[in-house]
Amino acid sequence: MSKKIKIGILTGGGDCAGLNSAVKWVTKTALDRQSETERSFQYEVIGIKDGWKGLSFTNTKELENNTMPLTENVVRTWDRLGGTYLGTSRFNPYNNKNNTSKTTLANIKHLGLDVLVAIGGDDTLSVAAKLHNDGVPVVGIPKTIDKDLFGTDYTLGFETAVEVITDNVDKLRTTAGSHSRVFVIETMGRSAGWLALKAGESSGAYITLIPEYDFDMQRVNELILEGRKGGARYDIVIVSEGAKEKGGIIVARDKKYDAFGHETLGGIGERVAAAITEGTNIETRCVILSHIQRGGAPCAYDRRMGRYFGIAAVNLIDKKEWGQLVCYKEGKISSVPIINVLGHLSLVDVPTMYDTLRYNGSRNIL
Ligand code: F6P
Repeated sequence: MSKKIKIGILTGGGDCAGLNSAVKWVTKTALDRQSETERSFQYEVIGIKDGWKGLSFTNTKELENNTMPLTENVVRTWDRLGGTYLGTSRFNPYNNKNNTSKTTLANIKHLGLDVLVAIGGDDTLSVAAKLHNDGVPVVGIPKTIDKDLFGTDYTLGFETAVEVITDNVDKLRTTAGSHSRVFVIETMGRSAGWLALKAGESSGAYITLIPEYDFDMQRVNELILEGRKGGARYDIVIVSEGAKEKGGIIVARDKKYDAFGHETLGGIGERVAAAITEGTNIETRCVILSHIQRGGAPCAYDRRMGRYFGIAAVNLIDKKEWGQLVCYKEGKISSVPIINVLGHLSLVDVPTMYDTLRYNGSRNIL
């Protein structure tokens, strides 16, 4: 039997539900006995811990200790577990201020990796694209609760995060009703309103504010007062962390930027809550769901999508289709060159999906 082909796999960027399922299915598909008889070679699968940081060690002992052989037995139960067993980081080997990509390339060689599967959003995939350009065979799997990755209609973690928000809104409704309060719930999502809008639709929020459409605070207050006149006892307002008032600015938590140049957003919810109290005289509370949205066990859909994406990644490797990202497009699993998805974002299409008068999901679908 010839030398086994070594697949390295890592998860990068913010964690989310569904990552472990994808790792499990890359491993199971690559090591599947039935498929092995149809191939003229065998695979082995090595997990790399902590994303790109795991390939940044200059000490080879540390580098080797930061990997783990993945077998069907190791990953058997992973699909039902949240987070990422491999660990993750926002480490960028091509960081302008400290470019360590030469070490990454040397480490890939040292570990004998023949192909690298990178599970991530646009940051992780931008590194994958550069490594591919530097001669490394790579395949990508899309994940992010923001669902803002261009070129795919689904990214792992999104539906679980929508589910978490919906559950939390259900819980907040009872206390909001008891006290006749307005609750402003701030969601994640960066510059994309998908998470806020879809969670707003799932949970029946009265108002949803998204980054793709700047809101007018006076209109928000008008809607709340109108609702109260119509008999509403309480209100649920969902605000995406990237939403901003007309003429206002995006609210960031601090002035720090990560290795990919992103600010940590957050704080718009508190501002909206204060402006509602001021403009309506109704008691208002703000809840920032923060990382709870990335936690918990994957919903059924993320488990299945992790499975399909994992299997498809190995299908791409079988065909040596390097530099490709597995994607979900028009109801089908397919693939797209990673390079094509970088530099653009998938955003909510306001004219077809958002009601700019009621600040809610569109009432026109067909
Ligand atoms: O990109 C996923 C995401 O959860 C965003 O929605 C959020 O703005 C960001 O990551 C938070 O990042 P961190 O986990 O580094 O605080």
